[in-house]
Amino acid sequence: MSEDTVRANRAVWESASRKHVREYETLLAEARTGLALTAAEREMLGPILQRRPTVVHLQSGHGLDDVALVKFGAARVIGVDYSTVAVSAAARRADELGMPCAYVAAQLPPAPLRDSCADLVYTGKGALIWMPDLVAWARDVVRLVTRGGHLFVHEAHPMVPLYSWDTDRTSIRPDRRYFDHAHVNDSFPAHGAVEWQWTLGEVITVVVQAGLRVLELREHPEPFWRAGGIDAAAWNGHLPNTFSLLAQRP
Ligand SMILES: C[S@@+](CC[C@H](N)C(=O)[O-])C[C@H]1O[C@@H](n2cnc3c(N)ncnc32)[C@H](O)[C@@H]1O
Repeated sequence: MSEDTVRANRAVWESASRKHVREYETLLAEARTGLALTAAEREMLGPILQRRPTVVHLQSGHGLDDVALVKFGAARVIGVDYSTVAVSAAARRADELGMPCAYVAAQLPPAPLRDSCADLVYTGKGALIWMPDLVAWARDVVRLVTRGGHLFVHEAHPMVPLYSWDTDRTSIRPDRRYFDHAHVNDSFPAHGAVEWQWTLGEVITVVVQAGLRVLELREHPEPFWRAGGIDAAAWNGHLPNTFSLLAQRP
């Protein structure tokens, strides 16, 4: 069941990623600013990026974060994503900007990269919801990260699928439940795809049980993404919309 779902989701992403090609020039200009990392990401990753790490970005998408990671100190970034469209658009952008970013098209997990190749594994902004098996994901993260290296996740808060996009008041969608395991995406960009739901407790537990030490967990009111033209009341600062997790391989 989950293999069929992953295959169907991949087709949805292959098509949704054409946006990265259609909006190539806009994204290139955005990438050039190097502002894709949020203030919280820059603060939490600052000391790590200063050490010029090799970064593996799981589910790298349009790759704008990769350009920003390099601008803030990363020596190089290897992005992995199963959308060949996303990977080639990100690679073209990085080449045009002269960034040390390389891309691999592959279905995760596992990443087709050697053990302990990353000082920092970076992921998020709509990534974990596409992983049907978070235990396998965490096991692969630990395999990739060197001893003393870090995992950083900046992700939508697991409460987010429950929020309506009403603009006048915050409300919880009656058709969604925090403890459900999945739901069907009914908004852009991955409309129709099955998204898995992982509670904050489940995310922390898989990371710890895989052998990483959690150093910091922050919850933030700001969403990492706002649908164009919508100003949902749920994004007005009253509710958690994102979280950041920093963990280290002992
Ligand atoms: C919402 S995007 C987030 C990507 C990136 N963080 C960004 O901001 O562009 C999710 C990405 O995950 C990729 N993806 C989903 N499931 C995957 C899988 N099993 N293996 C590899 N990539 C996957 C999709 O192709 C898509 O580019």
